[in-house]
Amino acid sequence: MKTPLLPLLSLLVVALLSFYPSQASTLTCTSSDDHASTLEVIHIFSPCSPFRPTKPLSWEQSILDMAAKDEARLLYLSNLIAGKSFVSIASGRQIIQSPTYILRARFGTPSQPLFVAMDTSSDIAWIPCTGCTGCSSTTFNTIKSTTYKPISCTDPQCRKVPNPICSGPTCNFNLTYGSSTVSISVAQDRLTLATDPIPNYTFGCIKSATGKSVPPQGLLGLGRGPLSLLSQTKPLYQSTFSYCLPDYRSANFSGSLRLGPVAQPKRIKFTPLLTNPTRPSLYYVNLIGIRVGNRMVNIPPSALAFNPTTGAGTIFDSGTVFTRLVQPAYIAVRDEFRRRINAGPVSSLGGFDTCYMQPVVSPTISLHFTGMNVTLPPENFLIHSTAGSITCLAMAASPENVNSVLNVIANMQQQNHRVLYDVPNSRLGVAREPCTR
Ligand SMILES: *[C@@H]1O[C@H](CO)[C@@H](O)[C@H](O)[C@H]1NC(C)=O
Ligand SMILES: *[C@@H]1O[C@H](CO)[C@@H](O)[C@H](O)[C@H]1NC(C)=O
Ligand SMILES: *[C@@H]1O[C@H](CO)[C@@H](O)[C@H](O)[C@H]1NC(C)=O
Ligand SMILES: *[C@@H]1O[C@H](CO)[C@@H](O)[C@H](O)[C@H]1NC(C)=O
Repeated sequence: MKTPLLPLLSLLVVALLSFYPSQASTLTCTSSDDHASTLEVIHIFSPCSPFRPTKPLSWEQSILDMAAKDEARLLYLSNLIAGKSFVSIASGRQIIQSPTYILRARFGTPSQPLFVAMDTSSDIAWIPCTGCTGCSSTTFNTIKSTTYKPISCTDPQCRKVPNPICSGPTCNFNLTYGSSTVSISVAQDRLTLATDPIPNYTFGCIKSATGKSVPPQGLLGLGRGPLSLLSQTKPLYQSTFSYCLPDYRSANFSGSLRLGPVAQPKRIKFTPLLTNPTRPSLYYVNLIGIRVGNRMVNIPPSALAFNPTTGAGTIFDSGTVFTRLVQPAYIAVRDEFRRRINAGPVSSLGGFDTCYMQPVVSPTISLHFTGMNVTLPPENFLIHSTAGSITCLAMAASPENVNSVLNVIANMQQQNHRVLYDVPNSRLGVAREPCTR
């Protein structure tokens, strides 16, 4: 059964192997691109990322890995929307997942630089701290910071933490990260983003981690819930930010996170943000249809409808790599895509079920939201080897093993666009923008 995949995989290995190493030498990896309230955003596999794969081979593996990690991400998102009615694999804890895009933040006084993953579907930030047992990488040295302060269980901030553990004097919570359990204590310290100091920021300090999949970096939550960056910096950033995510395949790999209403694009199309009172963190939008080429795909309206009770609907997410559509929507899009391509036999690669062994001429795919149509060029939904010998539609149906009612507009489909989250005006904007240096 596995045999047909092997030729595909080895072709991809060869194609990607020849592509990776030459670029690292041409890049300078400094934080000098951070200015005003704008931070440089890099892909986790970027030559400038300390977490990049050490062996070039990992590039091939990376595509399949990213697809596999998306499964955990979807479980996390499903858990969020289903809340207590859904028995998770680790009930009472948050399940988190590998990051895709990271940026440099600085914690403490004097400030210490640390990489954090950018996550629009999480709220509280957390980082590995000194004294952590089981953490692998650079940690934040709390002793060296003159402004560090642990949060106690009686502190009002502790009540905003999901499932706080108050068996000791400090406020704690646990996370599940892949196969690891991460124990975190809540603290406050100065956070510096680009040139903006943010005093008394509440975040989590990882105290201990068990298992093999311990996160090597921290996380910055950009959700709308309590303790997110937006909630803690309302006077400074007015709950407004935008990002441009770089294509990990491009040589320059430079994206940006722009905080606050200043310098946001003026020429941009918007769609209203929808709020789900039971899941305030998530950025829901109203996806009303999908066009492949110039044909509107026939999707049952129930597959796209927003329902705050079940959590059904569509979200924008920075942490999922490949867009997932609920089964009837995905099948309709895929079938129309295959019909338009009409180029010989279809094969599969990992979780992707629509791959071709020869170059294809692809139609565009347009996502139609209330008030905003986003037409994606093929580079936003096709993965292909540099030799052009394999091309796959980089979208999939929601996994069936989870409560799959959620459509997720993922980061590959957002690459080289500026996505503006304007919470005060309850709207999300999208505009094409190449994010190279
Ligand atoms: C939290 O994690 C710690 C360390 O792994 C563990 O000892 C503790 O039992 C966990 N607490 C809960 C409530 O899961
Ligand atoms: C931050 O906390 C310190 C100590 O608790 C306090 O003295 C200071 O006023 C706080 N600063 C701000 C800006 O809230
Ligand atoms: C990378 O950036 C440099 C400098 O801006 C530019 O000249 C070059 O064309 C870019 N390369 C790619 C592949 O985009
Ligand atoms: C989106 O495209 C459809 C047809 O393809 C059109 O009817 C609709 O008016 C467009 N919406 C916007 C907001 O441009």
